[in-house]
Order: sequence, then structure tokens, then C-alpha cells
Amino acid sequence: MTSDEGRAVVVEARGLNHSYGTGQRKVDVLFDIDMEVREGEIVIVTGPSGSGKTTLLTILGTMRRPTEGHVRVLGYDMLNATPSDIEVIRGRLRFLFQRRNLLTSLNVLQNVVAGVAMTPLTNPAWDETRSRHLLSLLGLGDKADAWPDELSGGQQQRVAVARMLIGLPDLIIADEPTSALDRIAGRIVVDQLRELALKVRCAVLLSTHDERIFDVATRRLHIEDGRIYQVG
Ligand SMILES: Nc1ncnc2c1ncn2[C@@H]1O[C@H](COP(=O)(O)OP(=O)(O)OP(=O)(O)O)[C@@H](O)[C@H]1O
Ligand SMILES: [Mg+2]
Repeated sequence: MTSDEGRAVVVEARGLNHSYGTGQRKVDVLFDIDMEVREGEIVIVTGPSGSGKTTLLTILGTMRRPTEGHVRVLGYDMLNATPSDIEVIRGRLRFLFQRRNLLTSLNVLQNVVAGVAMTPLTNPAWDETRSRHLLSLLGLGDKADAWPDELSGGQQQRVAVARMLIGLPDLIIADEPTSALDRIAGRIVVDQLRELALKVRCAVLLSTHDERIFDVATRRLHIEDGRIYQVG
């Protein structure tokens, strides 16, 4: 990781371009994206529907390879990362999708526990206690034994947030984490993200349309027509 102002860069893109499809069906989505997120930062990405937010987040989350350009995640250059490097990266990063985040064959508590990094140091009883604690912080203390199908969309999203937080990751990438939540639930979620950023210097990158949570950001970026701009 390169260091600047004492804070390591956790994820960065340089000269990133992305297109979907080929030939006549080719759609150019991202142009010459340069950006980074440092440890302890919460960076919000805004932009109209279809502007490329999810595309950018999935590339930075190592789930998609860019058409062109460099991506570094947790110190690894993604162009020559080996499968075992990618395994290390994925153990330290958590991705929250825009929808359908839960495993339907596990109950709520099991879904949260599944977010713990699977290291030999993991203590199952302790993980379960912490998972229950997080669920109650997120207003779901009475839902631990429920199945995902029995929850509302907003409740499911909060379970996914608990699962994302439980592993104390170094990097969180969240695609519209509060879009299915009311004001109070959304506030609880961003407060938890802020706490993680402050306490363990987790880097957080999240896309949102939700102006009510802009204040949580240490920095804001905006995508318009596939190009990225600093806000303010
Ligand atoms: N798998 C795909 N194949 C082809 N085109 C795609 C694919 N995924 C996204 N696109 C196109 O890329 C553009 C950017 O989509 P993307 O999902 O990144 O936007 P977004 O900013 O996340 O939008 P939203 O706010 O609606 O979630 C859109 O024009 C979309 O139609
Ligand atoms: Mg999207």
C-alpha cells in the first residue's frame, strides 16, 4: 500500500475504462477513472441511474475485470494477482449488493455468522454472541431465528449489513446500502459504518442516492456520463 498523509491507500483505480459487449453492441460505461479510498475514509459515490456506479464498485470489489486500466486492492495489483492473492483480498473485503444479499437456506443468525472471516482463530460461540449483538443494534434482536423469506426487504438488508460488519473487514464496498431502509434504520447503518471506519480504520466506499446519509462521508465523488468528479 502506498502511503500519503499517514493513511494507506486501500483501494485505487488509475486510468480505468470499462465497456460492456463488443462490436455494434458495445456500450462504453466508464472513462478514465482515477480515484482512491484510504484507510478510515468513507467515500460516497453518487450519480444518476445508469451512470456506472455498480460497474465501478464491482470492478473495485474484484468481481469484474476492467476493460482497461489499473486497479489496486489492499496492496495487490489486480492485473497480476494470483488466485491465492485474490483469496486473501476477498477475506479482508466485504461487498454489499444492491439486492438479494442473503443465503435463503440459512436463518438470520446463521447468515450473520457466515460473514466472519474463516480463520482458525474464529471462536463459534463468540461469533454468535457478536452476531446477536449486531442484530439487536440494527433493530433485529427478535429475528435471529427467522428465515430471510420471512423478513421485509429492509429487514433483509439490515441482516446483510450485520454480516458485512461482523468480520471487521479492511474494506467495505456497499452498493446503495440504505435504499431499502427508512430514515432511522438508514441512520443506524451509517453510524455503524462510521464506527468501523473510526475504530478499525476500515475503508468504506458506498454508492447512494440517499441525501440523508451524505453527512457520513469524509469525501464525495460523483459519476456523470461515465466520468468521475470530486464534489466540494
Ligand atoms: N452486464 C451488463 N451488460 C451490458 N450492459 C450493462 C451491464 N451492466 C450494466 N450495463 C450498462 O452499463 C451502464 C451502467 O450501469 P450500472 O449498473 O453500473 O449503473 P448504476 O449507476 O449502478 O445505476 P443504478 O443507479 O440504476 O443502480 C448502464 O447503461 C447499463 O445499462
Ligand atoms: Mg447500481
